Amino acid sequence: MVNIGVSFPPKVTHICCIGAGYVGGPTSAVMAAQCPDIRFTVADTDSARIAAWNSSNLPVYEKGLDDLVKMQRSVNLFFTTDVDSAIRQAEMILIAVNTPTKTRGVGSGKAADLRNVEMCVRRIATVAETDKVVVERSTVPCGTGQMVAGILDEFAKPGVQFHVLSNPEFMSEGSAIANLLHPDRVIIGAHGTSQWAQGLLRAVYEQWVPRDRILTMDLWSAELSKLAANAMLAQRISSINAISAVCEAAGASVKSVADGVGSDRRIGRDFLDASVGFGGSCFHKDVASLVWLSQSLNLPEVAEYWSQVLAMNSFQISRFARTVSQTVVGGLEDKRIACLGFAYKSGTGDSRNTPAAEVCRYLLDEGAHLAVYDPKVPDQHIRDRMEELGCDLSQVSVCASAEEAADGAQAVVVLTAWKQFLALDWEIVYGSMAKPAYVFDGQLMLEPETMRRLGYHFYQIGHPRSP
Ligand code: NAD
Ligand code: UGA
Repeated sequence: MVNIGVSFPPKVTHICCIGAGYVGGPTSAVMAAQCPDIRFTVADTDSARIAAWNSSNLPVYEKGLDDLVKMQRSVNLFFTTDVDSAIRQAEMILIAVNTPTKTRGVGSGKAADLRNVEMCVRRIATVAETDKVVVERSTVPCGTGQMVAGILDEFAKPGVQFHVLSNPEFMSEGSAIANLLHPDRVIIGAHGTSQWAQGLLRAVYEQWVPRDRILTMDLWSAELSKLAANAMLAQRISSINAISAVCEAAGASVKSVADGVGSDRRIGRDFLDASVGFGGSCFHKDVASLVWLSQSLNLPEVAEYWSQVLAMNSFQISRFARTVSQTVVGGLEDKRIACLGFAYKSGTGDSRNTPAAEVCRYLLDEGAHLAVYDPKVPDQHIRDRMEELGCDLSQVSVCASAEEAADGAQAVVVLTAWKQFLALDWEIVYGSMAKPAYVFDGQLMLEPETMRRLGYHFYQIGHPRSP
């Protein structure tokens, strides 16, 4: 059992966030701007990342983030590698470290790897000299709070008391600042003895979030709400992608079907955009984590149900890549294929678990030479992601513009919905390509009639093929 404490200041004055990543950095910057009386220290063991947060070239690209950091840094927002001092000074510690999927041992490929969380908690327990509220911000499986409380209890210095909360983050990359400023909801979970600490964190959020958007609940429900929310969002995408395959086979339009279905208020139109598949650092890992949790709780039918969301996503990615290789006349051997977009979605430079990498691997296996362009993903990340998938990089060139990538290409494959691809002069691009020129739109961005009028053989996910 964790010690139960009452000796705590009535108001938080110093918060430390462990983990200076996509969540830790933006969360702390927004909180610092909204809570001028609280000092925020973001601590990370990655010194390059901390140096970047302390420079003008932030390690995370988000609209509005640069200005926020510029405004708050050295006022009430600090970035440091000195994790121990940051822990000691804070009354409240947010844990925002990465929780990837396990890659070996029991649960490999499904269960969340909680090593980083465990290391943080051990550190907190060992270093803390005064009482702390410890907040899980990382996405963790239901029940992790028990492990956290157990470690804190075991390693605590005599007389030091800890209170564990779950406060999962629901922001999306690309709109992180807006999501953090105007969240649909904030969830704060606690168990009996830590409920008073819920009030402490609630008071922090109440400085800018309307009270009725702050939901308090028990710790397990808070942890599970996060996994369930991501699983249901991913499920909607897999559902519409399944329908997109039916549309192609039946000659229907998935955009129209999504409008028709989504105009039912009970269903809603959001997250019904068919695509080459979902990517990003979280959907796959969190659905997999829910599958593993269900298996661990001896609920095989539930596990099977959620695993189909992932199966449909893999099917969609390979179905799209197969369409490219089977449509280009004569196959892809030695053909230049331009891949436009590499980020897992527009508005971010993040390429973690991007469907684009998997499509590229498939096209390379078919013998294509790839010319890849993304406006935000660093060149090295493009190469790294492909290397992780075992691709032969000698057949890959990373280009400085969409036009350069398309020059001499047999086909253009649109993999990320960057607005700038809409603004391309597709007539000039057509002139620069090998003929017959193909465009495969994996993001439903381009206007089929216009593209076909320009002379392209045009394929779009979920729509009838070129006549
Ligand atoms: P990230 O990989 O960008 O950042 C994690 C950071 O934690 C890294 O900088 C790493 O160096 C640091 N770290 C790891 N172990 C550490 C330790 N022991 N001590 C100090 N620093 C340590 O990850 P992220 O995208 O910010 O995600 C963090 C968590 O938030 C994950 O659980 C994720 O599922 C969840 N989440 C992410 C998003 C998102 O949009 N990326 C949204 C909601 C929730
Ligand atoms: C997602 C959730 O939306 C956030 O609420 C959550 O906090 C976050 O995961 C997380 O836990 O990390 P994110 O991955 O940043 O956010 O981006 P989304 O906008 O959800 O997109 C995820 C993927 O789904 C992208 O590849 C996107 O292109 C795809 N997508 C999204 C579709 O294919 N169709 C859609 O209609 C919507």
